[in-house]
Amino acid sequence: MSAKNKLHSSQFHPILRKINEQNVDISFHNIMYPVFIVEDDNQQQVIPSMPSVYRFGLNKLIDHLTPLVEIGLKSILMFGVIDILPKDEIGTNADSNKNPVIRALPILRQKFPDLLIACDVCLCPYTSHGHCGIIEEDGINNEKSIERIANIALEYVRHGAHIVAPSDMMDNRIFAIKNKLIQNGMEKRCSVLSYSVKFASGFYGPFRDAAKSTPQQGDRKGYQLPPGSRGLAIRAARRDVDEGADMLMVKPGIAYLDIVRDVKNEFPEYPMFIYQVSGEYAMILHGAKAGAFDIKNILSETLISMRRAGVDCIITYFAPTILEWMKDGHL
Ligand code: PBG
Repeated sequence: MSAKNKLHSSQFHPILRKINEQNVDISFHNIMYPVFIVEDDNQQQVIPSMPSVYRFGLNKLIDHLTPLVEIGLKSILMFGVIDILPKDEIGTNADSNKNPVIRALPILRQKFPDLLIACDVCLCPYTSHGHCGIIEEDGINNEKSIERIANIALEYVRHGAHIVAPSDMMDNRIFAIKNKLIQNGMEKRCSVLSYSVKFASGFYGPFRDAAKSTPQQGDRKGYQLPPGSRGLAIRAARRDVDEGADMLMVKPGIAYLDIVRDVKNEFPEYPMFIYQVSGEYAMILHGAKAGAFDIKNILSETLISMRRAGVDCIITYFAPTILEWMKDGHL
């Protein structure tokens, strides 16, 4: 054996172990918290498929976020959910002035001036059919869908979103959004975070319950990537980069870390997000509750692995728990 390559035991001093873990620390800016907001300002709705996650009305959301911001929450990702306002074919209430996200934005900006606010942009929570685009007899009409998506993004930016994050997966939506922002002189106000590499995944199950966005018919395979494809993943990221995305995302998280590494290697100059989605949340939470493992162990290992794969920011429903641990110096 050559002496050169010998992994010796001094590598196992605790500080050396830390030094060997390159760039995997979790700081406050590495965590983004997804929140669901409903129309009734004073409501707090339980989501049966996602214990400890709620749909909040604006006042309840402010109450919920205030202590989190105090202990270091730096960013949120907002999802609007409606059950009083009507849903229709084109998702009119995605950007009407009654939309809960549009109403909340100026108030949250004022209440939490340092908080970074991202808005998910999609049609599925607002359409009667539950799909992410506009449907016609022969399926999704891509042109109409991206025009609609771009208008929604513009409204969110006008009302104060720092980031718009289109999750619809229609072709060329990033270009449509960027163009729309430029035409309206808004492009400097806002970054576009593309859900570039979004797989058609069973891990989204609990979310569709949370966002009330299950498709009435069919599935989303027509516009989300097949889980086995690395090639399509890179091509999707490249297309979004070419169209002007400012930041990229891989979704879901844990099962797709090789894709994160591929995309990060290909586009090292772009911030990389990962979405630890609802099914991953449920899996870890229920596993821990059943006594299969310790939640802190598993969750911090998961987060570190995401950082190791090249992630700059982790979108996670566990944000409140993680912040608590960080406050106590345990992560
Ligand atoms: C769709 C959207 C989904 C998620 C975020 N945006 C669901 C889907 O594509 O079916 C999933 C998030 C999660 O599972 O936590 N607009």
